[in-house]
Amino acid sequence: MKINVMLISKYESNLSAMRRMIDDEEIAILGESSGGNKALDKIENTSPDIVIMMLGAEDPDVLSLTERIILHRPRTHVILVAEDLDMDILQSAIKVGAHNVTEFPATPKEFAEYIKSVFNNENTRINSLNAKQNISWMSRVVTVFGAKGGLGKTTIAANLAVKLASLHKKVALVDLDLQFGDAHIFLDVEPMDTIAELVQQVSTPTIDTVRSYMSVHSSGVHVLCAPKSPEYAELVSADKVQALLSLLRTYYDYVIIDTSPAFNDVTITALESSSTILFVTGLDISILKNSKLSLTLLESLQQKDKVKLIINRAVDISSITVHDVQKIIGCPIWAKIPSDYKVAVTALNRGVPFVVSAPASKLSQSISEVSKILLSDNLEYDIQSAGKKEFQVASLFKKRLSFVKLLGK
Ligand SMILES: Nc1ncnc2c1ncn2[C@@H]1O[C@H](COP(=O)(O)OP(=O)(O)OP(=O)(O)O)[C@@H](O)[C@H]1O
Ligand SMILES: [Mg+2]
Repeated sequence: MKINVMLISKYESNLSAMRRMIDDEEIAILGESSGGNKALDKIENTSPDIVIMMLGAEDPDVLSLTERIILHRPRTHVILVAEDLDMDILQSAIKVGAHNVTEFPATPKEFAEYIKSVFNNENTRINSLNAKQNISWMSRVVTVFGAKGGLGKTTIAANLAVKLASLHKKVALVDLDLQFGDAHIFLDVEPMDTIAELVQQVSTPTIDTVRSYMSVHSSGVHVLCAPKSPEYAELVSADKVQALLSLLRTYYDYVIIDTSPAFNDVTITALESSSTILFVTGLDISILKNSKLSLTLLESLQQKDKVKLIINRAVDISSITVHDVQKIIGCPIWAKIPSDYKVAVTALNRGVPFVVSAPASKLSQSISEVSKILLSDNLEYDIQSAGKKEFQVASLFKKRLSFVKLLGK
């Protein structure tokens, strides 16, 4: 589907300047007009998506035309382009209700990007008005990340999503483990369409088109599944992911993102788009080594402030204690999820998340705790003051300081 634009100016030179700047296969010039009532008739008859006009001191009609289009044709969006965008011009445009005002573009590519972003944003706004949907002002994007495979990222992401949905939140679960994503298996949903089909088939998505590519879980969670086969992963670029995440956050209260344990463009985009990064680690020396390296990298990407450290499979029998982890990694522990192989694996094999199939289990309780903290928005929760006894220094602590030294290098 192309974006149909109409160019309006009473000066042929302006029309041809704008025409030269439109060169994109997703944008079509539907028509041109010199303005006045003729332009309104043409808009009425052809329903362009976007009207583009040149705004300048020498053409005051542009402002009255803009006002009339905004008031009477809310589905036709107006872009005003000015050669010299000064404060006076901007104020006069704002007075008549225009909000897409830009300097004359330097290149057709720049202009195409601007036109597409206006089209997407305006459509999202109009659609949400039509559907009487409540826009989610407080949307939270939560990425579950970890420095190794098998840490329990998907287990946490899927159960957290379902728990938040059971608390009446609108939740999207986005599987950005693009090669081997399996969130749909944890939830036993059929991925009819996946993120790969979405980015291939839809060039300018709206929130409604994105939702039509999502699978719906019985809890109400909408899942954007990973591609069906690893070779499709490369179809999904970081740019597309960023655009999708900004759309999703206009509708969902929580966008939970599952990731692969790799620092690629897509993962970094997810991390940068997140309000919170749940960084999953565990109690073995190899995981801790990778976690420490990853946290250093997150720091250099200026993302460390968002990190909340979760220890999964926290067991008392490990020779490394939760306290050691804190020392080694140099980051406070935010939450601890116990180890319960039977509950975790039974839930996975049945495709019923344990927050549903075993709500009384310690695993479910810890996920409930995490969702409660997320909901409270008081993310500075400190597990240490919540349960001091967990952090008693174990008798083996001195011996383990060697780990700290080892990993400090
Ligand atoms: N707290 C836990 N106690 C016991 N088993 C767990 C726990 N958390 C996860 N598991 C199990 O560990 C295995 C790996 O979990 P999961 O698939 O969630 O990890 P992952 O980090 O997403 O892995 P990958 O990077 O390969 O996607 C699964 O069999 C899961 O059931
Ligand atoms: Mg996983």
